[in-house]
Amino acid sequence: MYRPVDSVSGGNPTFQLGMMGTVSFETAIRFIRFLPRRIPRKIGNAIFHMRHGRPNAPDGFDARTGLDTAANLPVYKLDAVSRNYIHSMGYQPLPEDVFRALIAEVPVDPREFTFVDLGCGKGKPLFLASEMGFKKIIGIELSPTLAAIATQNLAKWNRPSPPITILCCDVVAFRWPKEPLVVFMHNPFGRAVMAQVMESLHAAWPADSMRVWIAYYSPALAPYMQSLPWLSPCPSQTGKIYRCVQ
Ligand SMILES: C[S@@+](CC[C@H](N)C(=O)[O-])C[C@H]1O[C@@H](n2cnc3c(N)ncnc32)[C@H](O)[C@@H]1O
Repeated sequence: MYRPVDSVSGGNPTFQLGMMGTVSFETAIRFIRFLPRRIPRKIGNAIFHMRHGRPNAPDGFDARTGLDTAANLPVYKLDAVSRNYIHSMGYQPLPEDVFRALIAEVPVDPREFTFVDLGCGKGKPLFLASEMGFKKIIGIELSPTLAAIATQNLAKWNRPSPPITILCCDVVAFRWPKEPLVVFMHNPFGRAVMAQVMESLHAAWPADSMRVWIAYYSPALAPYMQSLPWLSPCPSQTGKIYRCVQ
């Protein structure tokens, strides 16, 4: 288990480091370790935002619901339950209108489907999926700090809702429920993790019974997904949508 750091739980010892403000020794080391990964990611994100525009700034979701989902957290400031944190993209909540637009493009009746968010962060998509009428909702989150915030949000969520489960674990350890699924991802992790997740998803489904869809926002790994013969791309203006076929 990787310990929580500065912004989420008070690192020790701390010192001042330019634009990063007050940081612990551990955070500074992580920041340096992540630099070689962060630079290509920053360039990739900049290109993506140039092509598709930036997600809108604060959307009023927290004010409307009384939940706490805002504030981006870079990966080097997050704790984690597995070494796969090295492939994580950090926490960034998706604007409500973007989420609603993407999920509305999945051509299914949400009342028949379980919604799974791979990397749910503070849980915003889980509550929006609840409002959109999914039958059951599951969020998986690598960071215990973020999973705890999602769980606090769930305790505050006082609207009619289907069952919502928040699991603090690595997505590679998740056991897929054998039921119709809409699997949501908001650019959560790199290819090493994605490959394992796609393999386990594919292996979990018997040949003739797949009712599984993937909705992928900020799809950094679209070329990889495109290479999987059992994923059939479907039209989407907002992100990437795939139907799982045999
Ligand atoms: C960009 S955030 C998206 C948060 C949320 N889905 C949303 O759209 O508001 C990606 C999340 O994936 C989580 N994550 C990254 N790698 C993970 C892994 N291997 N297992 C579980 N969660 C992971 C990160 O901790 C982060 O909270």
